[in-house]
Amino acid sequence: MSFKHINFFMTKSFKTFLKHTAKDFHNQSVNPPVVRASTIIFKSMQHIRKTQSKAQKNPTGGYYDYGRQGTSTTHILQKILTKLEESYHVFTTPTGFGAVFLSIFSVARPGDEIIVADPVYSPTRILTQDYLKEFNIKTIFYDPHNLKSLEKSITKKTKLIFVENPGSNSFEFQDLGKIISIAKKNKILTAIDNTWATPYYFKPIKFGFDMSIVSATKYYSGHSDVMGGSLAVNKKVFNKVKAAEKITGLRLGPDDAYLITRGLRTLDVRLDRHRENAKKVAAFLSKNKKFKLLYPYKKDSYNFRMWKKYYSGASGLMGLKIKSKNINSIRKFVNSLKLFGYGYSWGGFESLVLHQEFRETGNRIYMNLEKDEHLVRLHIGLEDPNDLIADIKQALRHLK
Ligand SMILES: Cc1ncc(COP(=O)(O)O)c(C=O)c1O
Repeated sequence: MSFKHINFFMTKSFKTFLKHTAKDFHNQSVNPPVVRASTIIFKSMQHIRKTQSKAQKNPTGGYYDYGRQGTSTTHILQKILTKLEESYHVFTTPTGFGAVFLSIFSVARPGDEIIVADPVYSPTRILTQDYLKEFNIKTIFYDPHNLKSLEKSITKKTKLIFVENPGSNSFEFQDLGKIISIAKKNKILTAIDNTWATPYYFKPIKFGFDMSIVSATKYYSGHSDVMGGSLAVNKKVFNKVKAAEKITGLRLGPDDAYLITRGLRTLDVRLDRHRENAKKVAAFLSKNKKFKLLYPYKKDSYNFRMWKKYYSGASGLMGLKIKSKNINSIRKFVNSLKLFGYGYSWGGFESLVLHQEFRETGNRIYMNLEKDEHLVRLHIGLEDPNDLIADIKQALRHLK
């Protein structure tokens, strides 16, 4: 396996890079092997010490003396993701939520305050609102569509602004440029959960964020059979995250790293198709007056403008805000879908649907949900979009 190869192909498009990187010329296989190790074996004690000193001089160089630090299989994935993110480094974690935790744990300390987007993924909310309080870290939530509420919350103790874009289940798009300029002016660190777009459509570190999270469980792996996470960082926070990663042991195992690397080979192809399919489904859904489509499709909305300003594309996850006194008709609509699976997560090749319970939105302060309004989340998969539209059409007959 030759890392020179990774750099060579970066002279071409990233799409080409994903197909040609990390070939294993040593074993003569197209994909690199899964190297599993707890003990990493050396030729001598001198060899151990030499490797440790190389690791100290070059902490992103892939030098290990124990399996918890990774093996060449995790290193290859980290290198590929670092290119994709255009970041200083990418840490890989056993789940996406592990990356959320690591980002906050790396920088927040007792006495600090953090400011968090109101519509974050609900476990992120529970972590920041409830658990961090027990460690004397205060969380203030801001309104994603009124950044004055963010600016007003800044104090001398503010350590971190944590963004998720778009909002989880409610799909608000925020003014990311404004957030970065507020953070820089006040010398506050920033993190973003970028799982929806992935760096294929938006590159947070290049844009100015200090940390960027992606749940690799979703589009990176793409086949609904593996869990993982990535935390991209700039040079400024690298040492802090490296230390926290070491002490928490939050590292991805080689088998999962292999599957995620394999998934990445087709990331661009799958995301382009998710986008194309979602656009066709959105065109159909946007004509229906029974609900509001939560997806950057209608050009006249603030969400569309904010998406257009910062993103080069959109993924396959969207929502419907349905106003109806007849909750049974919503359940019937959802239950009548035949090509959409009922299940958590998203980003796999298949279409999925969920009728959200209020608790799943995480008890928000700024949630724009009136009485009798319900959220349904659709993940638009890689099926023929005409089949998906026909399926939604037949199920919509039940919506009253
Ligand atoms: C936006 C977002 N971030 C993070 C996560 C957590 O990822 P994982 O399920 O891999 O822990 C999820 C999971 O659904 C998510 O939707």
